[in-house]
Amino acid sequence: MKSSHEPLNYHPEKLKRELKPFYIGADDKDIEEMLKFLGLKSLEDLYSHIDDSVKMASVPMPKHLSYEELIANVNEVARKNKIKTSFLGDGLPNYKVTDVVGPICNIRGLTTAYTPYQPERSQGTLQTLWIYQSLMSQLTGFEAINASLYDRSTCLYESMNCALRLVKDSTTIIVSNTLYPGDIEVIETHAKETGMKILRVPVNPQSGKIDIPSLTRLLNTTPQVAAVAFPQVNNLGNLESVDEIVDLCSTNNIKSIAIIDPMLIGKGGLKAPVKFGTRMQGADMVVAEGQHLAIGPNFGGPGLGIFGIRYNEQDKLSIRSTAGRYVGKTQDLKGRECKALILSTREQHIRREKATSNICSNQSFIASVAGASILARGDEGFETSLNISRSHAEKASEALTAFEGVELKFKGSAFFNEFTLKLPVSSNEFIHKASAAGIQVGVDVSHRHHEIKEDGLLLISFNDTQTDADVEKLISFFETQFEKTKKGTPCPKIPSTMMRVEAPEIPKLDSKDIIDYYTRLGKQNLSPDDGIYPLGSCTMKYNPHINDYAASLPGFTNVHPEAPVEDIQGCLEILYEIQEQFKAITGLPGVVTQSVAGAQGELVGIKMFQAYHRDRGEGDQRNVIIIPRSAHGTNPATATMAGYESKVVDGQVFGIYAVDALPSGEMNLNQIKEFLKTDGHRVAGVMVTNPNTAGIFETGFKEMSELIHAAGGLVYMDGANMNAVAGLVNLDKLGVDAVHNNLHKTWTIPHGGGGPGDAIVGVSHRLLDFIPGVQVVKKDGKYDITRASKSCGSFHRHFGNFAHKIRAYTYIKALGCDGVRKMSQVAVLSARYLFKKLSASYPTLPGEAQSSPRMHEFILTLSPEVFKKIETSGTPKANTIARIGKLFLDFGFHAPTVAFPEQYGLMIEPTETYSKKELDQFVSVVETILKLVNDHPEVLKTVPHFTPIDRVDEVQANKSPVLSEKITAILPKIIPDRVDAEKLRNSTPGDLCEQILEAHKNSV
Ligand SMILES: Cc1ncc(COP(=O)(O)O)c(C=O)c1O
Repeated sequence: MKSSHEPLNYHPEKLKRELKPFYIGADDKDIEEMLKFLGLKSLEDLYSHIDDSVKMASVPMPKHLSYEELIANVNEVARKNKIKTSFLGDGLPNYKVTDVVGPICNIRGLTTAYTPYQPERSQGTLQTLWIYQSLMSQLTGFEAINASLYDRSTCLYESMNCALRLVKDSTTIIVSNTLYPGDIEVIETHAKETGMKILRVPVNPQSGKIDIPSLTRLLNTTPQVAAVAFPQVNNLGNLESVDEIVDLCSTNNIKSIAIIDPMLIGKGGLKAPVKFGTRMQGADMVVAEGQHLAIGPNFGGPGLGIFGIRYNEQDKLSIRSTAGRYVGKTQDLKGRECKALILSTREQHIRREKATSNICSNQSFIASVAGASILARGDEGFETSLNISRSHAEKASEALTAFEGVELKFKGSAFFNEFTLKLPVSSNEFIHKASAAGIQVGVDVSHRHHEIKEDGLLLISFNDTQTDADVEKLISFFETQFEKTKKGTPCPKIPSTMMRVEAPEIPKLDSKDIIDYYTRLGKQNLSPDDGIYPLGSCTMKYNPHINDYAASLPGFTNVHPEAPVEDIQGCLEILYEIQEQFKAITGLPGVVTQSVAGAQGELVGIKMFQAYHRDRGEGDQRNVIIIPRSAHGTNPATATMAGYESKVVDGQVFGIYAVDALPSGEMNLNQIKEFLKTDGHRVAGVMVTNPNTAGIFETGFKEMSELIHAAGGLVYMDGANMNAVAGLVNLDKLGVDAVHNNLHKTWTIPHGGGGPGDAIVGVSHRLLDFIPGVQVVKKDGKYDITRASKSCGSFHRHFGNFAHKIRAYTYIKALGCDGVRKMSQVAVLSARYLFKKLSASYPTLPGEAQSSPRMHEFILTLSPEVFKKIETSGTPKANTIARIGKLFLDFGFHAPTVAFPEQYGLMIEPTETYSKKELDQFVSVVETILKLVNDHPEVLKTVPHFTPIDRVDEVQANKSPVLSEKITAILPKIIPDRVDAEKLRNSTPGDLCEQILEAHKNSV
């Protein structure tokens, strides 16, 4: 390897799965034996039931790169970015990344684990999120902080929806024009075609702050207002009069939504939102971006949407109208204190179209890292960072305003560490000159407000990564451009009412202790590194280390998304390549790279549908989305969130029209045909998962698409299950108009204990003009940014979870045209092999679909006799499947997906990661489980037996939620495993049965 490459921080040859061709576990012999067992001759035969007319003959992309070539490639691309002395901030500030972050990002038990739906095997993730929630509570003063939402913009939209639910008969949210433009664009994109009205309150051109008389007037004259959303630090750097705004909200009996920067409210910083208002009544909701608490700019993502709401004696109910996940403190059946996800009856996987949001994967791992980083800083670390940032700003504002024509634009308005300068020249030209001199000098805010029509406005940000020498460099650059002719203006004093009084009392812990603690937590989870992680529909496959290596190259992590285009060529190359890769993989002509999770990809798709229909003058008429009943909860939740409210009026269905499944497991195409006959003109589109959630390919998909298109509708394919068909089925030929590819499933980015995910959306020619966000184009070897002509708006303030695009790019480069197909083929082979083996002992679902070929996953159930036996032994049928899931934990495996999409089903997805030997071992475990519950059904009453805790009493956990505790230097206790999961996996299933019976006896 060339010395110019960043060294690897791991040894690939020592990792069991890292150097396997295409990260596939089965070797040629395994593949041959499995095919033989299935009576097939070749991998292609696995797809013989799919019509040739929709197949992809080959993937139009280059062949795979070797490991060494891959290392060289990602280093070369990273080097194309130019990292310069930077004064960029503008809502994505840059603070020192604490020294715990790198090591914590390498704890595979935390990075690669799934969402902690099985609390007994996920105390690691749950505890990290608990610490995050608690510390954020300490910092903001809000009693309830969720863990977590995508980013500030979408978090703001969720809070606005929450306000509409909380304020009876309301329709309108007043939003300050002084919020970051990216955030405003995102909320306006979301609100289109929904019942939400957004009114904007102007900026006062003199103060550069919200114009309070205009706000008062709006409040006095507008009916049905639910909330005012306002920033503490605004998009010109000025500190808003937060007390006055919260008072106005209180007087008008509406909700106040404060958008803050969590870094700035640490010790020595600005007032915490819980104290806003002259009576210190506090804001009602808090929204923030938390990316910079955890990681560097990373070209804008992954971010961290911080959301908080009051939860106290006066208000215990508002929390139930919020979006996102909460971790609660609770007890297991033996009274051990533990953590579990709570309040989930608000969420899409339970409430479907009535959920408070469509969010599923969130930004969990960034929340975990933010928690650890806050501990590494402690009060004193925050204070030091804030002092440095503030003193840089003080020094620079005085020094820079000494130059001829350079002024503080808003002289009377206080700021903390960002301010707007008025320059005597065009800011845009000045920025490019500074860039040539090695300085990213700030952001051009000249055209940010129509109320302030002036060129030469520059927003400059200061932080603790800048040195005194950097500030000197900035001043010297100004000296090259302007004459020093006057005395500089001293920085305006910040009124004491705007500052924090009491410290949040965040302990500062030793970095080594933090890393040790989080390492121990990582051991409480499972990772796909260890063995089969059979969660159906979640595609828990191996996440290559080299992807993380590529994403952590400083050439990528230190890039700010608002740097001049000439400085970000490497990042743009990644985005361009991702566009090309997904065009090749899906067969579709367009790609959206903004969406940060599958559910957001769905929303992107449906919002494009709406833009398309609006453009054709059919926006109002098309008010139905067709969705099969077996769809993932995000599909109906997305349709609702997009504005398709489900109701029946005079026998006519509005919103979601649900389609049943046939006995074969496929959707009932005749039902769709019948509906189209009468209501085709009202259909906006369909959302169909393919292969569907039963693991069966929808062979009627193409016909369905043709029918929908003939009726003027559009086709969304939920691509969560692309691992079965990538590179083998051409989605364009299938008639797909939009499809999301969850990068945290098929495309190997780690799931992070619940996120960040990411989703690339493929788009048909019908929707090309409506693509949201930006498109990267290549001209004369240079990359640039454009927008679609009728863009439906924007779903991310920048470029989505960019660091994840690097991971997916690296993975796809490692697969190449040959590997993409083989990965899917072996995933299907492994699933079909397991299905045939296990269906010899287990009944399968759908009940009459035994002969329907399974793709990447399948559903097992129990016979009526076994259910009966179990019920007689004391476990009700309704609980049986969940308890069987817990029994998998006793064997050292994660549970399959339980009770979805079939109430009595266990959905198993092995992926291509594991060898035949590992698959056979898993078969023997699953068979042993059946034998065990058949012979000793009583064990299900006490499962699981070897995890750190017993089963959690979820009913109790939800009754009176406990959402935080004061974090001190002594971190919450970690309960050790009773038996290590690795030891369990290495025991013979027979031995384990004995031990389970023994443990059961001891626990009754
Ligand atoms: C079929 C299906 N659709 C959509 C989603 C939502 O994806 P995300 O969690 O990335 O939002 C999932 C996630 O589990 C899924 O399995």
